[in-house]
Amino acid sequence: MLKEIHEQPQAIKNTVLPRTKNFLPDFSRDNIPDSLFSDCKQIIFVACGTAMHAGMIGKYVIESVARVPVQVEVASEFRYKNPIVGKDDLVVIISQSGETADTLAALRLAKEKGAKTLAIVNVVGSSIAREADYVLYTWAGPEIAVASTKAYSVQMSVIYLIALKTAMIRGLLSEEETKTYHKELLSIPEKIEKVLKNEEIITTVAKNISSSSSIFYLGRGLDYASAMEGSLKLKEISYIHSESYASGELKHGTIALISEGTPVIALATQNDLLEKTISNIKEVKCRGAMVTCIARSAMPYESGLYDNMITLPEISDLLAPMLSIIPLQLIAYYTATYKGCDVDKPRNLAKSETVE
Ligand code: M6R
Repeated sequence: MLKEIHEQPQAIKNTVLPRTKNFLPDFSRDNIPDSLFSDCKQIIFVACGTAMHAGMIGKYVIESVARVPVQVEVASEFRYKNPIVGKDDLVVIISQSGETADTLAALRLAKEKGAKTLAIVNVVGSSIAREADYVLYTWAGPEIAVASTKAYSVQMSVIYLIALKTAMIRGLLSEEETKTYHKELLSIPEKIEKVLKNEEIITTVAKNISSSSSIFYLGRGLDYASAMEGSLKLKEISYIHSESYASGELKHGTIALISEGTPVIALATQNDLLEKTISNIKEVKCRGAMVTCIARSAMPYESGLYDNMITLPEISDLLAPMLSIIPLQLIAYYTATYKGCDVDKPRNLAKSETVE
């Protein structure tokens, strides 16, 4: 897992560079026409686990820059609910393995209902890749560890390319604005290298967490989607109970669980939402929570608001999930390691869930 975490900069380069032309997203090598993104009335992401969390990022990003309605569906729910989907919809299936049983069944159902289908898949020639109308391969290389890390980063990368392409061809972003975001995407590998060097503070946080029985991950907007993925990573390899919450939802029940010493990982990368996020952090801090903040270096913080701070290199709100995921993966890895867990082969889990 640690090796795969460190492979992320290269995996992102391998995925984004072949789809870059004149600093703009380009899917001509993938034989994907622009009309796939300009003509659909809505986009529906269907996936499981970590791949579904990449779809959550997609929802926030595409709705924000391209103003196309996006739904995210858990494949095991989608396949049994007689979904409202048809020929005007683009169903985007996300899967590292391309063999997850529920996701494959969801793809077949979407096709049956007449939707256009696009697969974002890592394994070349897998069932999902073969059956979808169009494929965008992620070039992460083989992912062996059960906990998905580099596959998630490249899934997000492809989704950013789709969002930028869709926004540009629909006239929501100018060519210059699209280039600015695309260049930022190209700068991500270098910035991830910097985050990977931040291990000292990350191991300190992991050591503190490793003796806890329950942890909360909080965030708003894109940070909420990242919180969901961070929480899944921790629970699957360290067996610590963890939950992710949209920060504003806390006061509707969950805050009752916060007491002296409860660890809280608070994501605060979204400038637009910073004031609200800070007030949520204060709410848990004054109830005794042990708070670790993940934020962009340029953000102002009052002392006493947090116990530990992990800072990220400067980045736009839109692309922040590409960086904030790195400390979350490392926190999960080191926490599990401190607990003596078999990080690469966690109990009860298979790398690919090919049966229901
Ligand atoms: O191969 P897939 O991307 O379709 O797999 C989906 C999930 O089973 C997978 O992401 C799972 O949640 C990972 N173990 C999470 O780390």
